[in-house]
Formats: sequence, structure tokens, C-alpha cells
Amino acid sequence: MSGGANGFTLWFTGLSGAGKSTLAQGVRDVLVARGRGVEILDGDEVRTNLSKGLGFSKEDRDTNIRRIGYVARLLSRNGVVAITAAISPYREVRDEVRQSHDAPFVEVFVDCSLDELVRRDRKGLYAKALRGELQNFTGVSDPYEPPPAPDIHVRSDRETVEESRAKIVTWLEQRGLIPSSPR
Ligand code: ADX
Repeated sequence: MSGGANGFTLWFTGLSGAGKSTLAQGVRDVLVARGRGVEILDGDEVRTNLSKGLGFSKEDRDTNIRRIGYVARLLSRNGVVAITAAISPYREVRDEVRQSHDAPFVEVFVDCSLDELVRRDRKGLYAKALRGELQNFTGVSDPYEPPPAPDIHVRSDRETVEESRAKIVTWLEQRGLIPSSPR
């Protein structure tokens, strides 16, 4: 490991609408309150700047994930906590990014049933995809490869945001990546 103290990457993966961004922000708030420097690389936001112009073919998604992984690697090896929140549907590229890291890489699977995502459908994209109006939509007409052995597995259809966030923070404390909260 090189660079500054105790940086790491918290890599969220999961279907659209599963709660990656919400959890990323929740964990960020906890870490910032404990004095850590944190950057969030959110899929939707990255696609408006760093990955502008990329679509949703496997090739474009892999490029998107490699770019996010590259930035996360640079941040994490210099003491920053890099939190990423992109679907990152392909196992191989997630593993490639993990391998490329100098600092610890923590994979968080935000798991939610498709039924629940279709029920919530905050952006209306699942309805569109199910009507066949949106091609290559992850989980409906495009693959999602769940991590076989995520470091942390949260069930956003069975846990509250607070429960999932606490699970993640506790895991990070237990592994010594962040100090335990003062009592
Ligand atoms: S990734 O596959 O490259 O990791 P990313 O997280 O950046 O995806 O972008 C996903 C977001 O793009 C979704 O939350 C959704 O708002 C939007 N989106 C638009 N088209 C698609 C699609 N075909 N599949 C998945 N998400 C899509």
C-alpha cells in the first residue's frame, strides 16, 4: 500500500434504483462527521461529465466502470475514501478494478428484488423497459452479474436505509478502516 493514510474504495454495485446513491450519501455523511475526506463517484453524475457520450452497450459500460475505477484508485491511494455508485453489472471488470487498487477495495452488493424495483420505479425506467421501449435495460433486457462473494451484502428490499448504512459502517469499523465511533 502506498500514499496517504487509510484511504479505501467503497464500491457499491446493484441494479438501478436499488439504493446505491442513497446509501453512498448516508455513509459519506457518517465518514465526513468523523473527519474523513470522501468523494462520491455516482453513475448518473459521472455519465454527465467523465463518461459523457457513453451508452449502455457492454463495451461502453466497461469503459465507464474502468474510468470510475481509475479515479477511485487515485483517490483511495492518497488517503481519500472513494465511494462509487454505478450499476457495474459485469463481474470481470469489477474484479479488474479491485486488482488494480493499491488501497483496500470493499465491494458492497446492494441487493433488491426485481419485483420491488418495478414496484418502486422512481424514474419510470422499469415500466418503459418492460414495455420494450428501453433496450438493454439492466435486470430486464440486459445482464446483471451479482458478486458471488461481496465484502458486504445489504438487502435494500428488507432493510431500512439506516440498517444498511449501519451494517456498512460497522463492517468498516471492525476491519479497522475507520475508527469506532466515540461512545
Ligand atoms: S453502468 O452499467 O455503466 O454501471 P451507470 O450506473 O453508470 O451504469 O448508469 C445507470 C443509470 O443510467 C441508471 O440508474 C438509469 O438512470 C440510467 N439508464 C439509462 N439507460 C439504462 C440502461 N439501458 N440500463 C441501465 N441503466 C440505464
